[in-house]
Amino acid sequence: MANRTRRWSIVAGCIEQIFGAESRALTGAEIGVWRAQFTSAILSIVPRLARLYAIDPYRNYAPTQYRCRRAGGWSQEDWDQLYTEVRRNLRRWGSRVVLLRTTSKRAAASVPSGLDFVFIDGNHAYDFVRQDIEMWEAKVRLGGLVCGHDYGSGYHRGVKRAVDEYVTKHNRMLQLDSRDGVWWWRKP
Ligand SMILES: C[S@@+](CC[C@H](N)C(=O)[O-])C[C@H]1O[C@@H](n2cnc3c(N)ncnc32)[C@H](O)[C@@H]1O
Repeated sequence: MANRTRRWSIVAGCIEQIFGAESRALTGAEIGVWRAQFTSAILSIVPRLARLYAIDPYRNYAPTQYRCRRAGGWSQEDWDQLYTEVRRNLRRWGSRVVLLRTTSKRAAASVPSGLDFVFIDGNHAYDFVRQDIEMWEAKVRLGGLVCGHDYGSGYHRGVKRAVDEYVTKHNRMLQLDSRDGVWWWRKP
C-alpha cells in the first residue's frame, strides 16, 4: 500500500500535463469529499491550485440511493461528526478550499463556471455518475480536465457504464489509469 500510486498523484500528473506550460492560478471542484484525503493531497501537491470547491452533503442516504462499503450502517450523527472533523481539518488550507455541504446538483447551481478541472467521486450509482458528468463537464472550461474515480471497480459498476456511455455519445478521448481507477479526458 505504501508505494501505491493514488488518485491524487494521478490527477496531479494530468493537471501538470495539461496546465504545466501556464503559470496562472487554477480552480477546480471535487464531487464527493468523504474524509478529504484527496482534497488535502491535491492542495498540497499542486500549490497553484488557488480554489478547490469540495462538495459533499454528508447525508445519510438509504442504501438503495447510495451504496458505500465504508459507510454501511452509518447514522446521520456519524455523518455530522465526519463533516465537523473534515471542516476542522480543512481550515489549514484557508481560502484555497471551499467546503460545500450540499449535493453536487445543488452545488452546480452556485459554483462558478470556467473550472480548470473537476474530479467526480460522489454517489457512484449509474444515474448519479451520468448526471455528475453532464452537469460538471459543463462547468469546466474548454481544454480543461474532466476526471473521476473508481472506473473498473467491480463494486461500483455504474461508474464504468456511465463514463463509457458518455464517451461514446460525445466522442471524448477517454484515458484510464488502472493503478487507482482514475478516468479522464480533456474537454474539447
Ligand atoms: C468515495 S467518497 C469520496 C472520496 C474522496 N473523493 C477521496 O478521494 O478521498 C464518496 C462521497 O460522496 C458523497 N456523496 C454522496 N452523494 C453525493 C452527491 N449527490 N453529491 C456530492 N457528494 C455525494 C458521500 O457523502 C461520500 O462522502
